[in-house]
Amino acid sequence: MPGPAGRRCGAQGSGWPAVRPIQRPAGTIAPVAEFFDVVLSQRATRRFRPDEVDDATVAKILTAATHAPSAENSQPFVFIVVRDPVLRAAIGTLTARLWEGGARALETGRLSPALMDEVDRGARGGVAAAPVLVVVCGDGRVTFAPTLGASVFPAVQNLLLAAHALGLGSTLTTLPVLAGPELSALLDLPDGVEPLAVVPLGHAATPLGPPRRRPLAEKAHRDRYGVPFLPEQ
Ligand SMILES: Cc1cc2nc3c(=O)[nH]c(=O)nc-3n(C[C@H](O)[C@H](O)[C@H](O)COP(=O)(O)O)c2cc1C
Repeated sequence: MPGPAGRRCGAQGSGWPAVRPIQRPAGTIAPVAEFFDVVLSQRATRRFRPDEVDDATVAKILTAATHAPSAENSQPFVFIVVRDPVLRAAIGTLTARLWEGGARALETGRLSPALMDEVDRGARGGVAAAPVLVVVCGDGRVTFAPTLGASVFPAVQNLLLAAHALGLGSTLTTLPVLAGPELSALLDLPDGVEPLAVVPLGHAATPLGPPRRRPLAEKAHRDRYGVPFLPEQ
């Protein structure tokens, strides 16, 4: 299906040099070890150094985000790159208010003490201290409402991975979007464009260890639910 009328597709309109598809002989797939290094080590960063991240780097990361799949190739993602310290502080204030006003109580006992400490730190200013906040929005005017989130969050995942690949920290946060119209008003979002996530970008203040995840056999089943998918020996 064609993309939305009047929209420029691909990297041409991004301000970032066109991305060349990797050329390989038909039918061959070369292993890309770096991809797995990136995916298997990406973590949620909530403590940032004040060092800047330049526009070219942000554009490179967002170009990766725009190459995510979306229903009908509708590309309903919209990225507001927030650098203005006043706006970042306002988003931080909204986030802290939501956290202290109920979300913190809701999460108490649900999160491990270590994760609670990290999320608490992030919600009380850690996230807003990043030099760049990317407010990821969904444009409900260009796709069906039920698939809006499903067409935006793959782009967010690309964004997180691209940032990590370039040595930057980031986190997918959704707490600030609970502010809804207040957040939209701060950013002059038009009707139909809704904030879905806030992703801080910056240099991590402290190194994070490897991600802790449940074993694959708990998450993957062979043929039918209940038979763990274990690679054949
Ligand atoms: C849908 C979603 C919403 C999230 N919202 C928040 C949030 O509001 N605040 C926050 O600090 N982290 C948030 N996170 C980040 C998770 O806490 C994080 O991905 C998870 O703990 C794994 O972290 P790790 O990759 O560092 O192990 C969110 C993640 C997802 C997928």
